[in-house]
Amino acid sequence: MNPMSTPDYAEKIPNNVALAEDRRLQRALESWQPNFLSWWQTMGPTLPTQDVYLRTAVNVGREGWAHFGHVPMKDYRWGIFLAEPGPDRRIGFGAHKGEPAWQQVPGEYRADLQRLIVIQGDTEPASVEQQRNLGATAPSLYDLRNLFQVNVEEGRHLWAMVYLLHAYFGREGREEAEELLHRNSGSADAPRILGAFNEETPDWLSFFMFTYFTDRDGKYQLGTLKESAFDPLSRTCEFMLKEEAHHMMVGTTGVDRVVERTAQVMVENDTDDVAAYGVIPLPVIQKYLNFHYSVSLDLFGGETSTNVANYYTAGLKGRWLEERRKDDHTLASDSIFVDALTDGQITVTEVAALTGLNTDLRREYIADCEGGVKRWNRILDEAGLPHRLALPHIAFNRKVGAFAGIETSPTGEQLSAVDWQSRKGQWLPTDVDKTFVRSLMRPVYDRGKIAAWLAPPRNGINGKPFDYDYVHLA
Ligand SMILES: [Fe+2]
Ligand SMILES: [Fe+2]
Repeated sequence: MNPMSTPDYAEKIPNNVALAEDRRLQRALESWQPNFLSWWQTMGPTLPTQDVYLRTAVNVGREGWAHFGHVPMKDYRWGIFLAEPGPDRRIGFGAHKGEPAWQQVPGEYRADLQRLIVIQGDTEPASVEQQRNLGATAPSLYDLRNLFQVNVEEGRHLWAMVYLLHAYFGREGREEAEELLHRNSGSADAPRILGAFNEETPDWLSFFMFTYFTDRDGKYQLGTLKESAFDPLSRTCEFMLKEEAHHMMVGTTGVDRVVERTAQVMVENDTDDVAAYGVIPLPVIQKYLNFHYSVSLDLFGGETSTNVANYYTAGLKGRWLEERRKDDHTLASDSIFVDALTDGQITVTEVAALTGLNTDLRREYIADCEGGVKRWNRILDEAGLPHRLALPHIAFNRKVGAFAGIETSPTGEQLSAVDWQSRKGQWLPTDVDKTFVRSLMRPVYDRGKIAAWLAPPRNGINGKPFDYDYVHLA
């Protein structure tokens, strides 16, 4: 049955999961919907707008998934879209390798799967909450539109996880879906589950760094869940990854444009000391990078984890690009070197490949992050500047894992607690840095205009020019 042929429910919750054929599920989701909308109204973007030039997914096919048009944000059609089922999809790894993928949740894995979905689901609305005030200081209408695009899609990702909880996890799943709206980023009583999602995103440099580093962690987590033996989770994540590509673009080109503008002013005035010219000095950019990278590394968990080993063997969560790995996809007899602290020294130690899977994923992520730094350094190089940005050492500013108990400089030199306290302001944003960055954050809402601290983008959205009317303010 073609879901789009039933306008009644297609109006309420757009979907490609034949929701109309399951009245109970439909009713349950329709009763969650007003709670979601009231969460969006109270915890979502604060800047009043008439409409925004947004991409809306109306289906997953080539034609359907990216419809562009001006829409009032509260009328955005948050829907439920799973990638098309593959023919005869088989489990690609673990103890069930080669068996048909699961269309239902096996009883023995129910609790673990639910936990994985809740943790993923918790991050999606968290980032909307973290970014809710950024509209007030948008550097251009183009950037404002991108912020809102990321926000509505994170809202849709919440829908994606809530659909799974409602459809496959019964009453407990429905309760968890409520909790996803009750926990809030930074809340004292009911904070979001993961640390980085309780940090504030107070300015646009933080936003670009967040979408580059922290959203990118999300991309890698989704990549592992896309491999899941639980087919509805796999297909949901596959479609979410499509949307994530835009979030990655916002972060990557956002930092590009900050670096580009700073480099330009450095060259024009032949000085490193560009704060007085109203742009962000490179050392401050480096400090923000250090912060967002190190808190994002923490999101991958400890270097070793027996839980994650069990998830893998059970088929719940695979590796990044599992099918491209040239091994037996069960890893029962393989090993991996993971970062470790041995006798107080930073070193590596060999462990079973299964227990080292967090490290495996974090390394894929780090390699990806190095790509960003290369790009930004190319911009500096092309400007004729000798300065370079760098990722800090893996042990720098860590709160989770082997290095949580020590302090190091960005180059990995170990420091006493006293040294760390006296020197960390050289490496992490200080109150002075934050206040300075915030002082630059003045809104620019005129078509085709941009804040002085940021270069304009190379391209607009969906073939539109930079000076397009991407947002109509209220
Ligand atoms: Fe997301
Ligand atoms: Fe995202």
